[in-house]
Amino acid sequence: MRRLSAALAFALLVGGVGRAHAEPQQMVAAAHPLAVQAGLEVLSRGGSAVDAAVAVQMMLGVAEPQASGIGGGGFLLYYDGTSHAITVYDGREAAPAGATPTMFLGADGKPLPFRQAVASGISVGVPSAVALLETAHKEHGRLPWSSLFATSIEAARNGFPVSARLAAWLDTVKPFADEPSARATYYNADRSPKKEGDIVVNAALADTMQLIADKGSAVLREGPIAEEMVARVRSHIRPGTLSLADLANYKVIRREAVCGPYRVWTVCGMGPPSSGGIAILQALAILEPFKLSDDKPNDVRALHLIAETSRLIFADRAHYIDDPAFTPVPVEKLLAPAYIARRRALISLDKSMGVQGSVPPGYVEHGTSHMTIVDRQGNAVSFTTTIEAPFGSLMMVGGFILNNELTDFSAVAERDGQPVANRPEPGKRPRSSMSPTFVLNRNRDLVLSVGSAGGQRIIGDTLQALIGMLDWNLSAQAALDVPRILNMNGPTELEEKGDLPAQAGRLRALGHEVQVRRHEGGLTAIRREGDGWGGGADPRRDGVAKGD
Ligand code: GLY
Repeated sequence: MRRLSAALAFALLVGGVGRAHAEPQQMVAAAHPLAVQAGLEVLSRGGSAVDAAVAVQMMLGVAEPQASGIGGGGFLLYYDGTSHAITVYDGREAAPAGATPTMFLGADGKPLPFRQAVASGISVGVPSAVALLETAHKEHGRLPWSSLFATSIEAARNGFPVSARLAAWLDTVKPFADEPSARATYYNADRSPKKEGDIVVNAALADTMQLIADKGSAVLREGPIAEEMVARVRSHIRPGTLSLADLANYKVIRREAVCGPYRVWTVCGMGPPSSGGIAILQALAILEPFKLSDDKPNDVRALHLIAETSRLIFADRAHYIDDPAFTPVPVEKLLAPAYIARRRALISLDKSMGVQGSVPPGYVEHGTSHMTIVDRQGNAVSFTTTIEAPFGSLMMVGGFILNNELTDFSAVAERDGQPVANRPEPGKRPRSSMSPTFVLNRNRDLVLSVGSAGGQRIIGDTLQALIGMLDWNLSAQAALDVPRILNMNGPTELEEKGDLPAQAGRLRALGHEVQVRRHEGGLTAIRREGDGWGGGADPRRDGVAKGD
């Protein structure tokens, strides 16, 4: 077995991360311990929350490659500890100029089977995570860009241990072994996937990260890596149209956060093309008069109300949310008190309302990772980063995985002769569920930061984490531990965890079609505790929250 990388040795050595204060003054919560350690190392050198986010993202691409990396995109919310302003960076992967509304339809006019759509060149949007981080770093970085990559480069070059979760996904997504670079990196000579604790070396990724450290995101817009990405997408058996011009023309967009009141707080999240911010604000506004603080997390009234509210927000999501550059999204209308009251009136405490409106056919998947970071100056990052499905499009270039983000578009362009929201179009950003969220108090001080992985389930996960912390005053970790009830305007899903499945009968009696299932989750959160911070990471994944 290869020697453990110095990064891992450092992580093990300081595993508990000694705390000089009762409450940590800076904190990183992310989906892999090595990524958290990389972020803390940057903070300990005086880096800002954005500096740490660069290091965390790079290490996630090494150690949690199934979920995010250089080949993907994301949404980053930045809170300035001095001005209390929030800046939103949209680094969502855009469709190429050659995209068409029917690109996910087969010769028979029906949507391609999901696995074929994912494992294709059609699904690859412009990789934009590095451009996003570069833009945020120019505005809010403190340390030199080139100094943020060393830990991750070392881990990729010298080796890192496969986590239980990476091992499980390598075993599950068997066609990933057909990709030559993946085969050489993550599989043994007999084609068996690496197991938990096996050491993986990804020298190509180390080389790519070194280039990005030296030259920035230009490395992904022009030159050999850009050319190889284009060639791979276009030569796929199900080719896409990605071009060098698409890569060169990509722009990170600064947007306004969508914010709304909830009790004594202001909740701010990601607006379109994400559905997450609006959906969560709608849900909180619908739920506010029901005073969930009177219930306990497993009370059937609270569960029923969360499920019914979720139906309503998912119905609106399907109907209204699109890339605002293509379709105006009526954000104010969707959050207007009179509209919220009309939606709330559809809820009965005695009976489920059932499916609301129509649910256009689409794809549901989960790759994605969420990190939450606070630095000593009180600046914070809430960053959801994604390659979409586990191992994205199953193609690797330069040691990283190309996303399949474009399967977040509606697979069909029309329904009943009408164009549907979120149909694929040239240059468009697909609708997302990613929900990086900040909660502020009346002085605009940061109270908490949260977000999740998990495809469309991100919205319900994040909503329940917020309810846990705000209504039930749970610690960040306790709020993330709560078993999940989810409804995406269909069956009511109960996580097979704790005492939640025991409520299935009562919910069925209210008319819910109940499914008890395993849940992946992927939340991280940091909340104000005393004069410092407390953090949590989803127990359903490998993540941790640590600070000092
Ligand atoms: N690909 C996950 C999301 O954007 O919702």
